[in-house]
Amino acid sequence: MDVNGSSAIISGGASGLGEATARELARAGATVVIADLNEERGKAVADELGGVFARTDVSDDAQVQAAVDAAVATGKPLRVLVNSAGIGWAERTVNRNGEPHNPATYRKVIEVNLIGTFNLMRIGAAAVAKTEPVDADGQRGVCVNTASVAALEGQTGQLAYSASKGGIVGMTVPAARDLAAVGIRVNTICPGIIDTPIYGFSANADEFKAKLVAPVVFPKRMGRADEFAHLVHSLIQNDYMNAEVIRFDGGIRFQPK
Ligand SMILES: NC(=O)c1ccc[n+]([C@@H]2O[C@H](COP(=O)([O-])OP(=O)(O)OC[C@H]3O[C@@H](n4cnc5c(N)ncnc54)[C@H](O)[C@@H]3O)[C@@H](O)[C@H]2O)c1
Repeated sequence: MDVNGSSAIISGGASGLGEATARELARAGATVVIADLNEERGKAVADELGGVFARTDVSDDAQVQAAVDAAVATGKPLRVLVNSAGIGWAERTVNRNGEPHNPATYRKVIEVNLIGTFNLMRIGAAAVAKTEPVDADGQRGVCVNTASVAALEGQTGQLAYSASKGGIVGMTVPAARDLAAVGIRVNTICPGIIDTPIYGFSANADEFKAKLVAPVVFPKRMGRADEFAHLVHSLIQNDYMNAEVIRFDGGIRFQPK
């Protein structure tokens, strides 16, 4: 599917993987709607790309509905939903002091990463379903979700994060089956270690990143956000890609720690 002349919502579009995706899709002619909590960065990116910023907490149904309404209000048919908003969290099931995982932090990660993805997928798809098909197959749009290789081989302390991302992986096939009825494809990317602000900017961050890169097979470095954006765009462009979960990780296989 060609995104030129369509609108595209990118949750988490104010930073990292979402921002790179917004840039890629805008370059290809899409009107981008940046749905993010970060108002300052989100507005700056949207203004630069000639798009729209919608301040959105993806875990809040009404705010996601407002972001979808903003995309429809651009007058360009909404055809692309990219879920990239997400938060990390590290906490053990039972910590070193013998205390069980805090249920509030577990819930928070599930709310943002999993329910947030569910929200944009369902509310966005309901709007995409109202557009005219773009081709002889009856296609109307594409949804691309962002999980993580932690969904498949979570490390120690990744219980909440892996559960949230594993939920996104698990939704992929049934969502693609449901949304086939309205001509929407659904794919999920599982990134490995991609260089974004999620790892912070301190000297410690550099040390941390070097440790993370050690098990990458090839090329021996972190992935780049523009390489992720390229994959999102390819998945949108290639009409036969559907219901797929794709590792994007330079061959990394996570060790327990
Ligand atoms: N960078 C990596 O190595 C990596 C690896 C695997 C998975 N991921 C996933 O990719 C996605 C993007 O990560 P990133 O590295 O670009 O991180 P990032 O921190 O650079 O960007 C995440 C964006 O999401 C936004 N956000 C957070 N909570 C939100 C909420 N409740 N509602 C709306 N927006 C919210 C933030 O404001 C931020 O702009 C996340 O889901 C992350 O879990 C990243």
